[in-house]
Amino acid sequence: MKEIYIKDAVNLIGQEIDLYGWVETRRDHGKIIFIDLKDSTGTIQTVCGPWMGEGYALIEKVRSEWVLKLTGLVKVRPDNMKNEKIPLGNVEFEVKKVEILNEANTHPFDVYGDGHDIGEEIRMGKKYLDLKRPRMRNNLKKRALTFKFIRDYLYSNDFLEIDTPYLTKSTPEGARDFLVPSRLGAGLFYALPQSPQQYKQMLMVSQIERYFQIVRCFRDEDPRGDRQPEFTQLDIEVSFKSEEQILDLVEKMIKEIVDKLYPEKHFTEFPFPRIDYSEAMAKYNSDKPDIRKDKNDKNELGFAFIVNFPMFEWHEKQYNEDARFVAVHHPFTKIRFEEGLSQAEKTKLIQDNTKELKAFQYDVALNGCEVAGGSLRETDADILEAVFVKLGNTAEDFRNQFCHYIEMFGYGVPPHGGVAFGLDRLLMILQGEESIREVIPFPKTGDNRDLMMNSPSMVDEKQLKELHIKINK
Ligand code: AMO
Repeated sequence: MKEIYIKDAVNLIGQEIDLYGWVETRRDHGKIIFIDLKDSTGTIQTVCGPWMGEGYALIEKVRSEWVLKLTGLVKVRPDNMKNEKIPLGNVEFEVKKVEILNEANTHPFDVYGDGHDIGEEIRMGKKYLDLKRPRMRNNLKKRALTFKFIRDYLYSNDFLEIDTPYLTKSTPEGARDFLVPSRLGAGLFYALPQSPQQYKQMLMVSQIERYFQIVRCFRDEDPRGDRQPEFTQLDIEVSFKSEEQILDLVEKMIKEIVDKLYPEKHFTEFPFPRIDYSEAMAKYNSDKPDIRKDKNDKNELGFAFIVNFPMFEWHEKQYNEDARFVAVHHPFTKIRFEEGLSQAEKTKLIQDNTKELKAFQYDVALNGCEVAGGSLRETDADILEAVFVKLGNTAEDFRNQFCHYIEMFGYGVPPHGGVAFGLDRLLMILQGEESIREVIPFPKTGDNRDLMMNSPSMVDEKQLKELHIKINK
């Protein structure tokens, strides 16, 4: 089958070759028919005519998006037909033989324009066609290149890529979990991870020191333009590093990504400003301020680190939830206590000075969007217990639910911390898109459905029975 990709035809002038691809356009010029043939690498103008014999009748039938094998000769175009502006504009392909590999139904929407004028549900209903669109193909490509770049960068900085389970346990990350019923354990459930938070901390006890993972995370939240029920994080954790060292690592990596993959873009400020949370709130009334000088400039990247977040936040009563304290980041975050305090003094401050406590927590804001968040971690079980109690749990519940977590801190835990990027959000901004759905290959709709697979969907009575589940209709 295929050996030559269309972009390489330019190097094969004078040779007879086979090309495989899809019909982009077909133009009839009397006896001559021009077919623009495209594949994953490019588009070439092919010329068909009566010299093809029987094949000529086939070519007359061919329509857009049909899949063809063409045999023919790569030629230099006559001077007056050359088009320097397009990649294969100086060559054409004289077709000798045609084989129709597959006919195509008329596509339900145009796949060449930017697609902004087509209803999103229509595009999502046939996402596999929407992905043919050059804008989408470019987004997929930049996504892949960015992932590869990050991997190479972190490997060359001695990070180890380690994957962690998707069937795991419900944790208090803040959002609602997606639950997976266990067949072997009647009435028991796994939860899909909201992030690999606990596993990556375990890896620090395992002496990994520099961990990363490009990982899918799951949160059962109402989706928005920058929120999906499953999304992809660049998850990082390191041992023996200060907050400033972690920010420095992040800053260097981002600079490399932008320099290499987005050279047309520039930073509002570099090094990225470190903005105190209270200053961000006072000046921008936001914990993810947009610091750009010119918000109309599509090439300006306003990165900023927001630091010194409060540890706790008071939430007023809403719906069925009582008023209560919540952790601004997550409960495993290290509090910024003054040097030299005893454990009892710290516990008392958590109890009494809750609102004043600041944490070693940082976010990365980019053009007004939170693209990453992280913190240094608390490893003293008694302090953690005080935090969980302040968040409304009993000490006993905490000790039960987190026994594995507390226990591991008894086996030589290094000081550690980390960060996680929402890669979809980062790519959305780098690609100049309005929604993360445009940079996720197969996103979900605004009500968390997959319109192609028609999920979520009902399952067989038999499957439910195996899972010990009865549906309450
Ligand atoms: P956090 O919950 O802040 O931290 O998540 C990190 C980053 O992930 C992105 N993000 C999302 N992107 C798309 N859709 C969503 N539903 C969604 N939720 C979050 C955001 C966010 O900044 N374990 C900690 C990190 C750590 O402490 O190391 C965590 O997950 O860009």
